[in-house]
Amino acid sequence: MRKFYIETYGCQMNVADSEVIASILTNSDYIITNKIEEADVILVNTCSIRDNAEQRVHGRLKLFSNIKKKSPHVIVGVLGCMAERLKEELLENEKVVDLVVGPDSYRDLPTIIKTVESGQKAVNVYLSQDETYDDISPIRYDTNGVSAFVSIMRGCQNMCAYCIVPYVRGAERSRSTETIINEIKELETKNYKEITLIGQNVDSYLYVKENNKVTFANLLKQVAIAFPGIRIRFSTNHPKDLTDNVLQIMAKYNNVCKNIHLPVQSGSTNTLQNMKRGYTREWYLQRIEAIRNIVPECAISTDIMVGFCGETDSDHQETLSLIEKVGYDFAFMFKYSERKGTFAARKMKDDVPEEIKVKRLNEVIELQNKLSTISKLKDIGKIFEVLVEGVSKKSKNEMFGRNSQNKVVVFPSTVNIPGDLVKVEITKCTSATLIGKLI
Ligand code: SAH
Ligand code: SF4
Ligand code: F3S
Repeated sequence: MRKFYIETYGCQMNVADSEVIASILTNSDYIITNKIEEADVILVNTCSIRDNAEQRVHGRLKLFSNIKKKSPHVIVGVLGCMAERLKEELLENEKVVDLVVGPDSYRDLPTIIKTVESGQKAVNVYLSQDETYDDISPIRYDTNGVSAFVSIMRGCQNMCAYCIVPYVRGAERSRSTETIINEIKELETKNYKEITLIGQNVDSYLYVKENNKVTFANLLKQVAIAFPGIRIRFSTNHPKDLTDNVLQIMAKYNNVCKNIHLPVQSGSTNTLQNMKRGYTREWYLQRIEAIRNIVPECAISTDIMVGFCGETDSDHQETLSLIEKVGYDFAFMFKYSERKGTFAARKMKDDVPEEIKVKRLNEVIELQNKLSTISKLKDIGKIFEVLVEGVSKKSKNEMFGRNSQNKVVVFPSTVNIPGDLVKVEITKCTSATLIGKLI
């Protein structure tokens, strides 16, 4: 049996895809290894979202070429979004690369590897209208055995002006409800306690069979009812599509976690329009109101991007004021990075100077750090149900897990095991974690 090693960059979709790839290869002639030095095939599942994501992969390829100098039989493959974006160019510019396979062509990997073994380089970057890998049972090769991602859709066609995803992931398509439920059943029998339903815009999930239409709200309800012993999370929601219906289901079912990731990108209606996000500042704030009213204990996190084309200082001030107003529990924060081929790259000018981007990003980070701390200070004295994930990195006498709001909780314990559900009273916090004691 030959061995493959796989490294994953990018978002949760890529993590889930690597589990599908592991399944496809394991069902062929390969076994997985986590030791790069013993691999016959080295695969890297890549991300194109920002330039620095791609630079990291070019760095890894340098390392792989050192390995290949010592072991010339090793096959190196680039998979995922960067493979889709750069196609043959990758073979031309990176001598170490033997194969390039895009996100919808993983079923072809065993054949492609054979082609390479016969002495040719190979590329498959075909994008499909209907591939969802729904019959493939992913191999969870790198998990804590407690929580898993379940992909419910692929692709995206929102065409936000800055974003490469629609070009590298293709058209949006939803996976069948039955196969989603079956995958969760399998996870349940393997003792998993938490699943995250994932897609680039879960709110536009729509599975049509005969005359029956399953929306995201329907799916969430079905999963919540079918798996009362499993915690359910989902990501990512889109502000233009998040319905009250989804919020009502979150509120009604205890096992649906009280956390929403609702990327805002900017607090300025002007910038949002330039970004083609499909909502205004007021609309977004009204969605936040709806969350606060319907699911009062819900934590809210977001993505923010500074320095998009045409962003003025007053637009930036509006972003800061929106962040303050919402009081996010957590945020991912980025500087705009132009991606070739997107609407913004073709039609707009990347006109915010780098030093202004850095300054704005730092202001956003500073404000959010303050808000993240406030959010945690508010939890002191509260009692949370925590799903134990493992032993704390800092001390073997402490364990960690997450509460429903997705905050990390650390507490002294040597008796629990991953998968336990425990009650913890919060006594203090750091900027990143809640600290408490078992009750
Ligand atoms: N589907 C999700 C986001 C996927 S990408 C959504 O619509 O919200 C994750 C985040 O990366 C985005 O929310 C955005 O903040 C950031 N991002 C996307 N394209 C980017 C670019 N060209 N430059 C910088 N950040 C970008
Ligand atoms: Fe990109 Fe917009 Fe689709 Fe998110 S919704 S993946 S930001 S195009
Ligand atoms: Fe990156 Fe592709 Fe995800 S570009 S963010 S890995 S969909």
